[in-house]
Amino acid sequence: MNIAFFSTRDYEKNTFAELFREASVPLVPSFFEYSLNQDTAHLCDKFDVVVVFVNDKVDAETIKILSNCGVKHIALRCAGFNNVDIASAQQHNISVSRVPAYSPETVAEHTLALMLTLNRKTHKAYNRVREGNFSLNGLLGFTLHQKTVGVIGTGRIGKAVIKILLGFGCTVICHDPIVDESVEQMGARYVPLSTLLQESTIVTLHCPLNESSQHLINDDTLSLMPDGVMLINTSRGGLVDDRAIIKGLKSKKIGYLGLDVYERESELFFADHSTDIIQDDNFQRLTTFPNVLITGHQGFFTQEALDEIAHVTVSNIINRDNLVTV
Ligand code: NAI
Repeated sequence: MNIAFFSTRDYEKNTFAELFREASVPLVPSFFEYSLNQDTAHLCDKFDVVVVFVNDKVDAETIKILSNCGVKHIALRCAGFNNVDIASAQQHNISVSRVPAYSPETVAEHTLALMLTLNRKTHKAYNRVREGNFSLNGLLGFTLHQKTVGVIGTGRIGKAVIKILLGFGCTVICHDPIVDESVEQMGARYVPLSTLLQESTIVTLHCPLNESSQHLINDDTLSLMPDGVMLINTSRGGLVDDRAIIKGLKSKKIGYLGLDVYERESELFFADHSTDIIQDDNFQRLTTFPNVLITGHQGFFTQEALDEIAHVTVSNIINRDNLVTV
């Protein structure tokens, strides 16, 4: 099988190359740094499989080109699949696989890192202490113990977050169209979305991006939240309307904002833009608030998770496991 591997980064290339070499069937990879989209899809002539990541744009037009090139399988080396038009892939008889659960704890731990850093401002303290400034002014936090945290989406990652929060002594309320009894047994309580938004000191998002969840956080839902709420999104950027959160930050409705994802991150993340003029004005505005912490989609980024992603992806390519259908 000839495999085109898109959006390749150094930290993953060696692990994948080794697994491709050791595979039970002959797999011949070509690693490309650029992403897969309508402009690059035509390069897939003579490839049977394409391997893509979160910001490759595998829309209907891209799939049409892939199909004309003879591609038979799209292997996502991530959990979310909102960037692939699954219906189009099915129409063209191209199967799509993903890595559904490589390490939910990895993303959950990063979620907690954002909450704790925003609250106790360790990122600011680090710089102050290095400059000999031991003033505590502006570093005041709140005790997480006994606070109410609202978890939207109680799948694998949401559940891992709930487990950690309960360990901190938080009251956890959650919302998900599918009630999972094991979540209630852990000690969390399902409530309607409006109740969650009204009662939570912290709201954290762990649902997939789809038509029903697009801009779940908007002017209306923000208006239900208490003033000074902490909002965390480690799921997908499109869950949040960035125009609404900028308004919410300016009015102090949002007291803390932690993002690992951003709606138009494909133009920015996973690359060094430190000498570029960034053209996304909303992103740039977000970085100017003192109470906003943004990381560049690194929730998944631990050695353990990378190893698991690589193993499952290669197995998916060979066995066509973990298929996504409409
Ligand atoms: P999962 O499929 O196990 O759970 C998702 C849950 O969300 C399900 O229980 C589902 O019923 C629920 N849900 C769907 N629509 C909802 C809605 N409108 N409101 C509330 N709940 C809703 O997914 P998992 O593994 O927990 O991942 C969640 C998301 O995390 C993924 O879709 C992906 O976008 C994101 N992710 C981010 C990573 C990062 O590096 N920052 C890494 C991996 C995943």
